[in-house]
Amino acid sequence: MLETLKKEEIKVLYSEETLASRVKELAGEISEYYKDLDNLIVVGVLKGSFIFTADLVRDLKVPCQLEFIKLSSYEDGTESSGKIKAVDLSLPALHGKDVLVVEDIVDSGRTAKFLKDYFEQQVEVKSCKIAALFDKPCRRLEEFKIVHADFTGFEIEDHFIVGYGLDFAQKFRELPYVGVIEIS
Ligand code: IMP
Ligand code: MG
Repeated sequence: MLETLKKEEIKVLYSEETLASRVKELAGEISEYYKDLDNLIVVGVLKGSFIFTADLVRDLKVPCQLEFIKLSSYEDGTESSGKIKAVDLSLPALHGKDVLVVEDIVDSGRTAKFLKDYFEQQVEVKSCKIAALFDKPCRRLEEFKIVHADFTGFEIEDHFIVGYGLDFAQKFRELPYVGVIEIS
């Protein structure tokens, strides 16, 4: 019964230590890529990326400006509603800026595609790259096949994962590790 699932029953996939060391490595790759910039706009995608974003920016060597955006594409649970429904755009003008979007996970690719199109075509940023802690390439929908994260922490199989910001029905975001939920 998923409704009554306890954290003790969740199988750990990535420990706190493993996450910390991979996030540090990613921050290194990202810092190297943007080494000549003096103002990188880091846009965390709420809520799933809040912990990843917080850890990542503390290891970045590039001066950055931190912003957040909120989308909604998922209903409670694990099934996509199929559409990006709402965007809370409490963003300053980012026209002509270099933007790094920080995502928790790329699954169907819908959200990543939406964000890339939004920043490139509507905001008209100078550049838009995506950093995703997790990627499930096996879940990518045909129409979003070209979508990829520019910086990826871990590629995973078709698992539903929680913890380190990721939720199942708004639960388990607070776990310091990432675990797998068995969905039958
Ligand atoms: P996409 O638009 O299908 O790529 O889904 C992206 C969003 O779905 C992510 O930002 C997550 O919020 C959510 N999501 C996808 N897979 C998982 C998972 O395994 N655990 C928790 N959330 C997930
Ligand atoms: Mg979510």
